[in-house]
Amino acid sequence: MSTYTSLWQRHWILERNSILLLLGILIVIAIGGLVEVVPLFYLRSTIETAPGMRPYTPLELAGRDIYVREGCYLCHSQMIRALRDEVERYGHYSLAAESMYDHPFQWGSKRNGPDLARVGGKYSDDWHRDHLLDPRSVVPASIMPAYPWLFTTDLDHSHIADDMKVQALLGVPYSDEMIANAAADVRTQATNDAPDAAALVKRYPKAQARDFAGNPAHITEADALIAYLQMLGTLVDFKLYDDKANIR
Ligand code: HEC
Repeated sequence: MSTYTSLWQRHWILERNSILLLLGILIVIAIGGLVEVVPLFYLRSTIETAPGMRPYTPLELAGRDIYVREGCYLCHSQMIRALRDEVERYGHYSLAAESMYDHPFQWGSKRNGPDLARVGGKYSDDWHRDHLLDPRSVVPASIMPAYPWLFTTDLDHSHIADDMKVQALLGVPYSDEMIANAAADVRTQATNDAPDAAALVKRYPKAQARDFAGNPAHITEADALIAYLQMLGTLVDFKLYDDKANIR
């Protein structure tokens, strides 16, 4: 009997026993999966660094917590895919590095509302105020719910330094100085013409500091949420990328 026939005979064993065949399939698929996945843990280029990315300011981080708490992610993704229609509508496709300080990330494919990855600077603070108070007042056909309580609830930032320590444990490079100044930075960023604004911008380049929600007497949850929305997609300068990586 030639080797050729005996190999085929052994293959019969697999084909006649469905459990063995299933195990064989699983082993082959696992090898394929490992070959694709394992190198990603070792290649430096898996997450390319994007100049401009920085950890969120304490106020933006607090706004992000409210975004997650209110379930905004149930209708909004923050991930522009490298598809022509998305790039034309929302701007440059999302880079992995833009989500590198997100715990948890806000990607997704469920979009009852538009992608928000680059919504920062698209509208004025006034627009966001009107929109969060009553979406139909600015977009008559909107199905987005209103969030009026954000404007009447003072932002509880008593635990913001602890939040940042947890983020640091997860790998976000918050320095001791950033953590020590956390609560003060929340107040500085939510105030018009704050004297410490320059120090804040030094710690967090491109941080925008002003009274976001239009009520200077209070720092509300709306201040934090609008500060977060106005930062989204503004950190990386895409003029650096457009020549090289534009998919059009
Ligand atoms: C039930 C689904 C739903 C939820 C939940 C929701 N939205 Fe929306 N959102 C929409 C829809 C639909 C639109 C598009 C119409 C409009 O502008 O109101 C939209 C639009 C927006 C826009 C304008 C985007 C653009 O580029 O024009 C922003 C900003 C926004 N939502 C923020 C939020 C935030 C912040 C939350 C959580 C507090 C939230 N949304 C929760 C459905 C939702």
